[in-house]
This record gives sequence, structure tokens and C-alpha cells, in this order.
Amino acid sequence: MSETAELKLPDGQVVQLPVVEGSAGERAIDIANLRAESKYITLDPGFGNTGSCLSSITFIDGDNGVLLYRGIPIEELCAHSSFLETSFLLINGRLPKKAELESFESEITRHTMLYEDVKNFYDGFPRDAHPMAILASVVCSLSSFYQDEQGSPGEVSYLNSIRLMAKLPTIAAWAYKRSVGQPFMYPSNNLRYCENFLYMMFGLPVEEYEPDPAVVEALDTLLILHADHEQNCSTSTVRLVRSSMTNMFACIASGICALWGSRHGGANQEVIEMLEQIQEDGGNVKKFVEMAKDRDSGFRLMGFGHRVYKNFDPRAKIIKAKCDKVLERLKVADPLLDIAKELEEAALNDDYFKEKKLYPNVDFYSGIIYKAMGIPTNAFTVMFALGRLPGWIAHAKEYTEEPKNRIGRPRQIYTGPESAHWLPFDQR
Ligand code: SDX
Repeated sequence: MSETAELKLPDGQVVQLPVVEGSAGERAIDIANLRAESKYITLDPGFGNTGSCLSSITFIDGDNGVLLYRGIPIEELCAHSSFLETSFLLINGRLPKKAELESFESEITRHTMLYEDVKNFYDGFPRDAHPMAILASVVCSLSSFYQDEQGSPGEVSYLNSIRLMAKLPTIAAWAYKRSVGQPFMYPSNNLRYCENFLYMMFGLPVEEYEPDPAVVEALDTLLILHADHEQNCSTSTVRLVRSSMTNMFACIASGICALWGSRHGGANQEVIEMLEQIQEDGGNVKKFVEMAKDRDSGFRLMGFGHRVYKNFDPRAKIIKAKCDKVLERLKVADPLLDIAKELEEAALNDDYFKEKKLYPNVDFYSGIIYKAMGIPTNAFTVMFALGRLPGWIAHAKEYTEEPKNRIGRPRQIYTGPESAHWLPFDQR
């Protein structure tokens, strides 16, 4: 028999609400019947205290800095897995057998091309269009090329999941080529996932291109680290959009739009811009830490703080270690990395940050590596989207396969005028 919580209301009503306990011991009060039984709803702007679903995909222990994908610690996946194997794990709920992984990889390889007509969309964008605008637009447009293969409403078509995994790198690389005025590079079926992306980004039709194995390995790790993160803003968006049973291309396009924001995936671009601002200002890190503590300054330490992690973001630790290795391998001495380390040191020893439990998050160091790889700053969030794609697909699939799934439609508390009437101009 599950436990119940008792809610005593001002009018004397007592409502019994079931308590739900997850596999990691998290507990929630199930308020599904609250309004029917009491006419009350709950209010939680930002949903900091509100669970939207039961999910078996990812678990975060924010107090202890733990991140598990289908129960496996990300440290193990970064050490032993690949981005595509991790994507299979997230989407299908288990690690693939060798033959399954080979087939998953080969199916993705064979879907990396885009309809030739899609190239025309790129001509319509200004050269300086933000690549996230291009990514969202082109991904959504794919729904017009695969109209008959949306799968039945009760399923996320496997083929469309493969198409999304396969084509997003091509779409992203072509957005970069458009911005630099270089010819689009077609994917090569002889290259593995990350090599293929780097080839389409930095290869040229006039010479051979061999991506540096250290860069390939670092990219694969970065994509694993970004692959999923519970009900973050963009994943919640994908689930909400999927709840109206719209097609997967539109769902993923909505996730890309939500990720773009500076408070979410857009922070990795803002971190580099912040570090460059500190560098231009003479590297006075202490001054910026003080500014971040002053709410009226309007300045925040980008890449710091997290809704869930009140300890180190485990992803930031791994990326920071990768930073040193990749920059050393590429013989890049980036002063921004020194500024970032000094900033981290200053903030972590400052009472304001300690009291508010603000630690570096996934975005704090990732931009340093992307910059060393030659990725333009405004495409850092595109890299985040490439990583987060399997998580979005996994959550859309989990939602779709939930037998009692309903369209997401939150309530509100109205604070507007109780009754008003239309008035002609001379009475307004
Ligand atoms: C991602 O949800 C996810 O899982 C996201 C993500 C994922 O993988 O999907 O992990 C990816 O989005 C990481 C976060 C990237 N964003 C940034 O780095 C932007 C800077 N960080 C903040 O804007 C903020 O910390 C958030 C948005 C990340 C979290 O916001 P919350 O949980 O709503 O917290 P808050 O804004 O209410 O801040 C709590 C307090 C406030 O002070 P008080 O009002 O209590 O006085 O901490 C302060 C804030 O002013 N604060 C900061 C700060 N972040 C929070 N002060 C200075 N610098 C900061 N970075």
C-alpha cells in the first residue's frame, strides 16, 4: 500500500494525496486529483518543485554531483563508450550488442545526406544568420520531406530517429560552410560519426582532410556529456510539444529553439564572450566576481550555477580535464583558459558563491575546447544540440510510449480584471 500525504486546506477540507517514490528514493506527492477533490491547484513558477513525469532515462543527484544515463555513471561512459553507443543506450534503454551497434552506426551513416532541395534553404539565410536559427528551420523543414513516415501516433518512428541522428551534423556543418562562404562538403560513408562531422566542417574539395584523432576523441566525449539531463528546459519543451502528437522533426526543432537561450545551452557562447570581456578589461577577475554578486549590475557569471547541481557539475570536471589535454595536443595556449581557471578559483572561494552553491556547470569549460577545435563561438550551442539530440529523442519516445500520456496543459492563477467591457474611443 503506497503512503499518502494529508493536505489540510483553510476551509477545513483534508485531502489525501498518494506519495510516489522513485528507484533512487526521490519522493513526490501525486496531485493528479487535487483539483477534482479540492478545487485547488498548485503554483510553482519555473517548476523548481514540480515533477512533470516518471522517467527511467537519466538521473541527477545534484547534491552529490552524480549523473547517470540509464543507471550508468557518465564517467564510465566517457571512459569506455562512444557517443553513438550512448545514444543507443539512451534511446533504447540498454547497451547494444556488438552487432546492434554496428547496424545502428551503419544505418546512421547511410542517412547522413540531405535531400538536394534542402540546400536551397541555405541560400535564403543571411551569411551572418545565427546557426541555431538555421538548425531549427532546416530540422523542422524535414517534416515536409518525410510526410508519410511520421509513424503511427503511438510510436516514434525508428527511421525518423535515425534520420535525425544522421542529418543534424550535416545540417550543422552546412550552416557553418554557408557562414564562411565555402562549398558544402557532402558526408562520407567511409568516416565515423565525429570524423564525418569534422570533415564536413573543416574539409575542402581541393585537398585531403584528416581530423586529428585527439580532436575526434574529445568531440565524442563532449557529445556524450551533453547527451541528456532529465527535464531541462529544452527536453521539457520536446516532451510538451510531442504531447500534442506533432511530428518528431517539429519536436526536435522546438528543443533546438529552447536550447538557444542564454540561460540554457546558449550559455556556452556567453561564457567565451564573458571571458573575452574580462581579457579586454585587463583580466581583472575579482572585479567581475564582485559584479556577479551585485544583482543590480545585471551581470552574471555565465557557466556558473545550476537549478539542480548544488555541487560540482560532474560534466564540468571531465571537460576541464579534457581542456588541458586537447589544448596541449593541439599546441594551443589559450589565455581564456587561464582566465577561466582564475575565475573559477576566485568564485569558489567567495562566500556569495559558496552560500548560493554556485559551481561551474557544463558550459563553463566546453567553449574553450570548441574554440581550440576551430568551432566558431556562435556555433557552440549547435554543438550542444548535436549532443542533446539522443536525449530529446529518448524523452519523446518515452512520452509517446507512456500508455496514459495526455496532452500537456498547465493551469494558472488569473490575476487580471474580473469584468471589463469594450468601450468606444471617446470613453477610453
Ligand atoms: C544548462 O537544466 C539543466 O539541466 C540545464 C543543463 C542541461 O544539461 O540541460 O545543465 C544545461 O543550461 C546549464 C546552465 C547554463 N546557464 C548558465 O550558465 C547561465 C548562468 N546561470 C544562471 O542564469 C542560473 O544559475 C541558471 C539559469 C543556470 C539556474 O537558474 P535558477 O535555478 O533559476 O537559479 P536563480 O536564477 O534563481 O539563481 C539563484 C540565485 C539568485 O540569487 P538570489 O535571487 O537568490 O539573490 O543565485 C544567483 C541568482 O542571482 N545566481 C547567480 C548565478 N546563477 C544564479 N549569480 C551570479 N552568477 C550566476 N551565474
